[in-house]
Formats: sequence, C-alpha cells, structure tokens
Amino acid sequence: MTAFLSVCSVSKAFGGVSANVDISFDVAPGEILGLIGPNGAGKTSLFNVISGEVSPDRGEVLLDGAAISGRGPVACARAGVARTFQVVRSFDGMTVLENVMVGAFARGARPREAMRAAQDVLDFAGLAGRTDTPAHQLTPPEKRRLEIARALATRPRLLLLDEMLTGLTPTEAAGGVALIRAVRDQGITVVMVEHVMEVLLPLVDRAVVLNLGRVLMQGTPAEVVRHPDVIRAYLGDKYAA
Ligand SMILES: Nc1ncnc2c1ncn2[C@@H]1O[C@H](COP(=O)(O)OP(=O)(O)OP(=O)(O)O)[C@@H](O)[C@H]1O
Ligand SMILES: [Mg+2]
Repeated sequence: MTAFLSVCSVSKAFGGVSANVDISFDVAPGEILGLIGPNGAGKTSLFNVISGEVSPDRGEVLLDGAAISGRGPVACARAGVARTFQVVRSFDGMTVLENVMVGAFARGARPREAMRAAQDVLDFAGLAGRTDTPAHQLTPPEKRRLEIARALATRPRLLLLDEMLTGLTPTEAAGGVALIRAVRDQGITVVMVEHVMEVLLPLVDRAVVLNLGRVLMQGTPAEVVRHPDVIRAYLGDKYAA
C-alpha cells in the first residue's frame, strides 16, 4: 500500500497519563479508515497530533510523504488536514454561511471567493437552504453538517471526523454516512472516530483499534469484529458469536 497518511511510532503523554503509546499505521489515498476503541483509548488525542494542535513526544506523522507533526495547526491545515470536533464548535452568533467562510479564509481566500466557496460546500453538504440561518438555530444533525462544511471549505486532502454520527437517529446517521461517502468520492481521505459499530463498520475500508493508548489490532471490518482481543476490550459479548 502506498500510504497517504503515515502515523509513525507516535507517543504522547500528559503528566503521568500516556494518551498515545508507539502508535503506527498507514492510510491509503482515498481510503475511509475507522479509528475505534473504548473511552480514553487515545483517539481524540491522536487526532490532536495529526491536526497539529498537539506535538508528539516521540514519532512523527507524514502526509503524502512530508512530515507535518509538531508544526502547529496552521501548517497542518495548509498541508491539507481538516477536522471536526467531538464537541461541536460553531460560531453561534454568525450565520451558517459566515461559519463556513471562516474555513475558506483559513485557506487564504478573499471575501468574494470565500463566499462562493462556502456556498459550494454548503450545497454539497445539504445545507443550501440554511445559509442565512444563525448557526445556533440549526438542528443537531445540521450542526454536524455545518462542521463538515467548514472543514471542507479549507479544501482538505485528509478529513478527520471525531464522533460525527454519535447521538443521531438512524435516519440522520444514514444521511451522514452518505455525506461521508460523497466526501471520499471527491478524492478526500477520511479517518473517522465512531462508537456506533453498526454505522461505522459497513462504511470503512479498514479499522485501527486503540486500547489504553496503543494499537490493539488493525484490519478489515470483518477481521476486527471477530478478533478476540477486540471483543474483550471493546465490542463485548454480543459480537462473540
Ligand atoms: N490535553 C490533555 N491533557 C491531559 N490529559 C489528556 C489530554 N488529552 C488527552 N488526555 C488523556 O489522554 C487519555 C486519552 O484521551 P482521549 O480523549 O484521546 O480518549 P478518546 O479515545 O478520544 O476517548 P472518548 O471515546 O471518550 O472520546 C485520557 O486519559 C485523557 O484524559
Ligand atoms: Mg474522544
């Protein structure tokens, strides 16, 4: 596999807590990779390293062969990394359009260009009818779409999604799945954290399982669900059969 994203022996501790321990895996271009594991396994911490918000203590992250880790969030965004947050972060006093323009400005767009780019991604994300709505008036699934739209407005090559589908109804989650597939079909590589296995496993090409900060195993969805260590540490007995 030619890697688009390479996580190479990444370790990160906060005080005495080892959030990530010697984590290594590759993601192919255009792949959808699931990053799964119990609460506190280190998933969000690893996203923070990949998106440049946190510098690893050891190891590095390569995007298309270039080292991006330890260079800060602006450098990572310029290199083509975008993310959404586990706790939705919208600018509540601003309209949906303005929220997404922030993403385009982060990529250096001028106002007119940023507005056009924002309208395009809002259309793509299914929010075209909501451009002038204040962000705080959106429904929960619309807020998730707004997060994705703002990330897409930075024109990423890699999109990190942290629990985008958690807390949605099955119908809303199905809409989210369709949007993530459409993102991938644009050639954007996706790494997603999700606890709802019924939604995640049919969507991803492969999954990496973290436990206690380490990679427990990685493989196809079929390999993951039948792996005894994954069942023991995370999935529980309902998968044992
Ligand atoms: N900035 C930080 N400061 C201190 N501790 C941190 C920090 N970031 C992560 N940790 C710790 O690292 C460990 C991994 O946390 P992380 O948020 O990455 O887990 P997670 O896999 O995303 O869990 P969840 O599924 O609950 O979101 C936890 O023990 C957490 O308290
Ligand atoms: Mg998390």
